[in-house]
Amino acid sequence: MSTKPMFGIAVAMAALLLTACSAPLSNVSYSKDVQPILTRSCSECHAPGKPGFEASGLDTTGYASLMKGGKFGPLVRPGDALSSTLNMLVEGRAHSSIKMPHGKDKLADKDIEALKVWVNEGAKNN
Ligand code: HEC
Repeated sequence: MSTKPMFGIAVAMAALLLTACSAPLSNVSYSKDVQPILTRSCSECHAPGKPGFEASGLDTTGYASLMKGGKFGPLVRPGDALSSTLNMLVEGRAHSSIKMPHGKDKLADKDIEALKVWVNEGAKNN
């Protein structure tokens, strides 16, 4: 019995998986995709009474407060992830001393991508 067909199937499956993973995201939802990322990675510090909020005025627990930004101004420019502070920080494009999340690992690539697509799609409260 030849092992070739099995190998063929394995290659086809790997190719399928790769395509699925690299398919561009779209229709990113604030409530389903973005807020859970912020809750997981930012809100333990960026909520009223927490150190990140006290230092920067940024509250990442909801859409309105996120869009308002902190005392350094808004961090989301709808439609423009390239110049949005939020994306610069999580992508590590800002100065390394203010990389976010503070003192922790970078976000997962798919989370970084989701934030980027969400901003580029207009940063909607969807
Ligand atoms: C472990 C706590 C912690 C976490 C988690 C955290 N931050 Fe911060 N953040 C801070 C602190 C403290 C500051 C105050 C500035 C400083 O000390 O560098 C800050 C400052 C900021 C600022 C203002 C930066 C400036 O000085 O212009 C932004 C924007 C920000 N954080 C965004 C985020 C985002 C987005 C996340 C999640 C991806 C996040 N932070 C996660 C603690 C945290």
